[in-house]
Amino acid sequence: MNILVIGTGYVGTTTALVFAEMGWNVTGLDTDAQKIQQLEKGVLYFYEPGLEELLRKHLGTGQIRFTTNKDKAIQEHEAIFICVGTPSRPDGGADMRYVKQVAEDIGQTMNGYKLVITKSTVPVGTQEQVTGWIQAVQKGSFPFDVASNPEFLREGKALEDALNPDRVIIGTNSKRAENLLRTLYRSIKCPIVVTAPRTAELIKYASNAFLATKISYMNELARLCDQLGVNIIEVANGIGLDPRIGTSFLQAGIGYGGSCFPKDVSALIFAAKQNHIELSILGKVVNVNQTQPLYLLDKARERLKSFANKKVAVLGLAFKPDTDDMREAPALRIIDRLLSEQAKVYAYDPVAKLPADVQYESVASCMALEDAVQGADAVFLCTEWPVFQKVDWTKMKGIMNRPNLFDGRNLLDSDEMNAIGFFYQGIGYE
Ligand code: UDX
Repeated sequence: MNILVIGTGYVGTTTALVFAEMGWNVTGLDTDAQKIQQLEKGVLYFYEPGLEELLRKHLGTGQIRFTTNKDKAIQEHEAIFICVGTPSRPDGGADMRYVKQVAEDIGQTMNGYKLVITKSTVPVGTQEQVTGWIQAVQKGSFPFDVASNPEFLREGKALEDALNPDRVIIGTNSKRAENLLRTLYRSIKCPIVVTAPRTAELIKYASNAFLATKISYMNELARLCDQLGVNIIEVANGIGLDPRIGTSFLQAGIGYGGSCFPKDVSALIFAAKQNHIELSILGKVVNVNQTQPLYLLDKARERLKSFANKKVAVLGLAFKPDTDDMREAPALRIIDRLLSEQAKVYAYDPVAKLPADVQYESVASCMALEDAVQGADAVFLCTEWPVFQKVDWTKMKGIMNRPNLFDGRNLLDSDEMNAIGFFYQGIGYE
């Protein structure tokens, strides 16, 4: 069976390469000719550890190829993964225009049985919608199935997650589709959960929203910890050992960002509202997350009195380590607010770079961490890049104007920083 992946964005490219790695022949299709040309040359346009090597390997083995010729690609492949974007609309719902376009392309062009699989995170009911969109434009009466197969990989750990998933969810009522998908995943060792399509679609949202809830819960609890003089890291360790709670996703900080959590939580709230259900807990999850970067700023303002004309170093721009992705990154919220309060902002990230646009023209983008920290009145640590732990902080204190360190990820050792002579403030941790 040949696999076609439509949409060579982050999820699509990873999906295509992982199936190639599993031994399948895969084609990546995109309407963006420039993207396709780059991929054909073995160049990724985003940063993800290990992925470019895999791209070059499978361009070499011939197991992956790329094209912009959609009609030919659709006709030549039986299994078609839809991996196009589903961006947020202003009302919080998901914009389905790209998925609809792909469904119509498939419907108009298909020449035999097709298994169409949605990998993009899509609202509950999309499987039925895609089926309808294909049927509406079909020219012949070719059989097809539409299945939901949500992706759970994390940025920065995409390969590890995609090759060793905790579970594979297959949402379909068709035995033929189920069997084909089981075949595609035969080399993966993990539970395969087969559900109705709507269930699979909801599992994806419910999973991301639950994880976001864990984070916001810890973040709000951290505010209480600050008042009580309790260490949130120790609280997380103490509660996490209860297997009903689990140790992961209990790290307090300046909040979650990225392309998934903020968008998916909003989309779930929106979908519930349309069904006359208020997911009130998730409303609070969003609220805590939106105010969390400002919480650290308030702490810093208390200390500095005002940000006006102060030099502030922002270390870490990406929404998390091992990615250059700054979508919904808390660091950007912090920079926006610092700029509006007339601070002089110096930014450094090992990989991510601020866009060269009007909004950030007054921010100094530094090539080295030391350049950002030199003469600073405060350092904000916004991403837990491991290299920040290896920095010579004694030396950094020496070159700062005032040794104020606001650790938005509780990354550094507070005792060590205090011993060096920093005023150190984490989140629920000092
Ligand atoms: C997430 C889901 O984990 C993944 O399953 C889904 O497919 C896509 O969305 P991703 O956005 O890549 O993946 O990153 P993740 O590692 O989950 O982190 C999301 C955000 O939460 C980051 O901003 C991170 O800093 C934050 N986070 C995570 C915390 O603040 N505390 C934690 O304990 C864990």
